[in-house]
Amino acid sequence: MENDIHRKAEARKIVIFDTTLRDGEQSPGASMNIPEKLEVARALVDLGVDVIEAGFPVISPGDFQSVEEVSKVVDGASVCGLARCVSGDIDAAGAALAKARQPRIHVFIATSPIHRQYKLKMSKEQVIERAVAGVKRARGFCDDVEFSPEDGSRTEIDYLCQVVEAVIAAGAKTVNIPDTVGYDTPQESFDRIAALINRVPNIDQAILSVHCHNDLGMAVANALAAVAAGAGQIECTINGLGERAGNSALEEVVMAMRTRSDIYHVDTKINSRKLVPTSRLVSRITGLRVPRNKAIVGRNAFAHEAGIHQDGILKERTTYEIMSPESVGFTKNDLVLGKHSGRAALADRLKHLGIELQTEKLDIVFAEFKKLADRKKCIYDSDIVALVSQFSRETSVDGDAADTKWRFVSYSMRCGQDSPSIRLTLSRCGAEAAVELSGDDLVGGPVNMAFEAVKTITCLPIHLKEFKLEAVSDGEDAQADIDVIIEKGDPETKEVREFPGRGVSFDVVEGAIRAVLDAINRDAPAKGAC
Ligand code: KIV
Ligand code: ZN
Repeated sequence: MENDIHRKAEARKIVIFDTTLRDGEQSPGASMNIPEKLEVARALVDLGVDVIEAGFPVISPGDFQSVEEVSKVVDGASVCGLARCVSGDIDAAGAALAKARQPRIHVFIATSPIHRQYKLKMSKEQVIERAVAGVKRARGFCDDVEFSPEDGSRTEIDYLCQVVEAVIAAGAKTVNIPDTVGYDTPQESFDRIAALINRVPNIDQAILSVHCHNDLGMAVANALAAVAAGAGQIECTINGLGERAGNSALEEVVMAMRTRSDIYHVDTKINSRKLVPTSRLVSRITGLRVPRNKAIVGRNAFAHEAGIHQDGILKERTTYEIMSPESVGFTKNDLVLGKHSGRAALADRLKHLGIELQTEKLDIVFAEFKKLADRKKCIYDSDIVALVSQFSRETSVDGDAADTKWRFVSYSMRCGQDSPSIRLTLSRCGAEAAVELSGDDLVGGPVNMAFEAVKTITCLPIHLKEFKLEAVSDGEDAQADIDVIIEKGDPETKEVREFPGRGVSFDVVEGAIRAVLDAINRDAPAKGAC
């Protein structure tokens, strides 16, 4: 015990830079609207992250506004805006961060030979010049400036040392080395950080950081190797979201450093009990499901199936558990509420799950909860999360687009071998629309029929690419949780985009219709389109 206290007193603090709202949002299908981003930002502050990268302000008016709004609400963490080393980008980031209590501008330019030659068509000297000018311009807006040499892991080490020295001299307080394409190995990550620490003369004037992508499944290992070599900041995302295969998962790097503090001798400000609620919140908002076997936050992360393991756990928990489920925010008793539970009990349970609803929303969710409790004896945490997710998906106000979203009203169907038919009613812009299909119009099973009916009513060029069904909880009365991916073509540009959707219902067909509508609604036009 004394040793533990001693170790804690010595533990180096690692800065946790969360980029769920920027790189995480670059995950295909993970886009969030502003109210959703604010909800995630508040949860990140509660979780204890040091820096929240809220967006790339110059990239779109929506990104600018989200950085601006996040800046207004966040207290207790730095808010960061991304910018290329280009005046317009930096000025946009500076303006979007004007109201932030602790603003940070993150400027980047690619430094690797491939990027210099093919993308930038610039010499080594020109890149350094641009990097230095970018850092100096950003320092005109705030003291806290971070610089990233994009594709840093594929940059010649001698040149990388020169770049890092120059940007620190220009005023960068954090220098982040991105493994942009996820090509690194842990040994290389360690060696690069060690080389920078040993060879850059002014390195003590900045914090070294890493930003690892997961293309080879090594993002977390690479980030930890960098920490072992002396890096002081990790860039990461909730659930490992991010461009392509994603970034280092925040929950994994944090728990690895904490559980193996005997190896890393570091710690963070993260309140680990908020990891599961934050993971669920991000999954609910982005519609991107957390795999059951995902480390730390997956539903099975602490589920012991083998008899020998169960026996061991009952005798002494540490035989098969290196962390307790409670330490990351799982609760022991998953069976929580029933038909007799009141509004206060539901509010308390929601709070415990990291979900805070204003009175008006709580009233609606409570009414839905009562309907559910009438049909289902045992209401599990997973049922409650599914209920709130469905509610947020179907009522979220995305700027002006709310009224242009398609809503499910009712359906009836006859399926089986003979004369299949379906009648579906949806609503949009305050008006109902119905369709009836039968006989030759219909092929395949009930889900196929429902999809055809949605396509007919909405007149959208959509294609159902993926369909997945999972039970929300155990038991025969479990609800169906359906994930879909639809492809939608743009008739003018011919570009095909993918949208994920999710729907929950006791009725598989209704759940499928709701999931398809959720996917369609992610691309809902502005209200004026009604
Ligand atoms: O992956 C990357 O290189 C980035 C930088 C902008 C940090 O996301
Ligand atoms: Zn990235």
